[in-house]
Amino acid sequence: MRISHLPVVFEQGTVNMEETVGALELRSVSKIYGRGPKARTAVSDVTLSVRHGEVYGFLGPNGAGKSTTIRMALGLIRPSGGEVRLLGRAVSDPGALRRVGSLVDGGAFYPFLSGRDNLRVLARTQGHAGAAIGSLLERVDLAGDADRKVKDYSLGMKQRLGVAAALLNDPELVILDEPANGLDVAGIQDMRALIRGLAADGKAVFLSSHLLHEVELLCDRVAIVAKGQLLQEAAVRDLLEGDALHIEAEPVEAAIAALAARWPVERVAGGLRVEARRANAPDVARHLHAAGVDIYRLAPYEHSLETIFLTMTKDGHD
Ligand SMILES: Nc1ncnc2c1ncn2[C@@H]1O[C@H](COP(=O)(O)OP(=O)(O)OP(=O)(O)O)[C@@H](O)[C@H]1O
Ligand SMILES: [Mg+2]
Repeated sequence: MRISHLPVVFEQGTVNMEETVGALELRSVSKIYGRGPKARTAVSDVTLSVRHGEVYGFLGPNGAGKSTTIRMALGLIRPSGGEVRLLGRAVSDPGALRRVGSLVDGGAFYPFLSGRDNLRVLARTQGHAGAAIGSLLERVDLAGDADRKVKDYSLGMKQRLGVAAALLNDPELVILDEPANGLDVAGIQDMRALIRGLAADGKAVFLSSHLLHEVELLCDRVAIVAKGQLLQEAAVRDLLEGDALHIEAEPVEAAIAALAARWPVERVAGGLRVEARRANAPDVARHLHAAGVDIYRLAPYEHSLETIFLTMTKDGHD
């Protein structure tokens, strides 16, 4: 069991379970489609926890089981095994689902109603007046097209309406299946800003993507999935961090002399490669400074998420 699953007892002796458990918890969740010889495992023993205030990316290639997992997280399909908790409650609890916003399959809309009217209908089914509709339409950059029929919307416009719909009930947890689908470059940038804004407001965001770069730019943490299995869960920053620093400094000989006793150093094109982690960078800088060396550049080497992902999804998972 992870530490984040445990309630924290504050000094006053109060326990606020909803603050301390993950906003979304999947515990050993599995899904097998079909029966008998046709049975096929789509998701196998996935455990993860999404916290308030973070964007958590579920990253995997086509058929990895992302949508299946998202459907189970939302109670749209029943897991074959394991448990889903939403905001500290069972997924079957309507009180929990009311505080969750979601976008699956681009959302479902009435084609002959306008975007605005679709949101009005949805607000009514959610039992509120939809006071936020105008500002939401602006947030997803649909204000100018809000009164056109949805049947005339492009894929990207429908996707943005789907995000507005997901936010209509001011949810604490937002679950989005491939939110970047159908968006152009500007649309993806806007979507990224919007999603970061949700996390900044303290909401938890769980999203799936097969776009590495997108996850790298957008997410705090990422789970890499392939063939239904969670291969690794990590902070994006930790995942990308290499184990060396690239340094440009003068004079080079003095720099090598200053560092070599503590860290392996080698000359590379454009400077030095020092086998020290990012956390050691200030220490490295101090050593250079004390030796009278001028630093022009000091930066960690980074793995690309692409390399990590390809290595991970290739090994033993073909
Ligand atoms: N309703 C279903 N019945 C049977 N098999 C299904 C069903 N839905 C999905 N699958 C299978 O489960 C596996 C995972 O599919 P899923 O749609 O969850 O993947 P995904 O990661 O969302 O893929 P994509 O990136 O293409 O959206 C696939 O092998 C798929 O064929
Ligand atoms: Mg999918």
